[in-house]
Amino acid sequence: MDFSFLPKYYMFFVNGAKVTLLLSLFTVIIGVVLGVILALMRLSRIAPLKMIATAYVEFIRGTPLLVQLFLFYYGLPQLGIEFPEVPALGTAFPEFLAGVVALSVNSAAYVAETFRAGIQAIDKGQMEAARSLGMPHSMAMRHIILPQAIRNVLPALGNEFIVIIKESSIVSVIGISELMYNADTVRGNSFRAFEPLIIVAIIYFVITFTLSKVLGIAERRMRTSD
Ligand code: ARG
Repeated sequence: MDFSFLPKYYMFFVNGAKVTLLLSLFTVIIGVVLGVILALMRLSRIAPLKMIATAYVEFIRGTPLLVQLFLFYYGLPQLGIEFPEVPALGTAFPEFLAGVVALSVNSAAYVAETFRAGIQAIDKGQMEAARSLGMPHSMAMRHIILPQAIRNVLPALGNEFIVIIKESSIVSVIGISELMYNADTVRGNSFRAFEPLIIVAIIYFVITFTLSKVLGIAERRMRTSD
């Protein structure tokens, strides 16, 4: 084992970790928002909404993330839809945006299923009670059902966040210099394969393990408040 490349290359790991965290953060936020909307669509009584959401979930779950990423990054530009260059955000912005979009679109399908299960697990007496007090359906959903559902789905949602952090390594293939991509760069420059990869594995693990601990605390808090 030879880590002598570290003094020269450690910034690759630091910067890679930053990009990985940024990618995951955007993905988690967009994925949850989109996922909740899809879950509500899937549970709605309006048939076309239900159909769209169901088809979305089935298609995304049934195709590889790598294929979806390539569809966004290579496929869409052929149809004239390009991810914009934003000079202020650096030359790698179109790649970054394509990565966030592909990851979010993918995650939303899984989040939707998580929330659907969480909402369906709430006793229907809750909705009936709210409605009998005169609350409109949407208000009861927002103030009575969803707050309880969120506590139910927290463990599964935490799992999804961890999956996103790990799956974000896939976007290295379109040239986003996140953790995995940078490990590859160091591997190429230092002629060492094992060491940079083991460092990256440890960094991923530290990130996901920390997140899992934080989520564990949040879960316990929510349970005691009950
Ligand atoms: N490797 C799987 C795929 O290619 C992972 C999908 C992402 N999973 C998730 N829960 N967001 O389809």
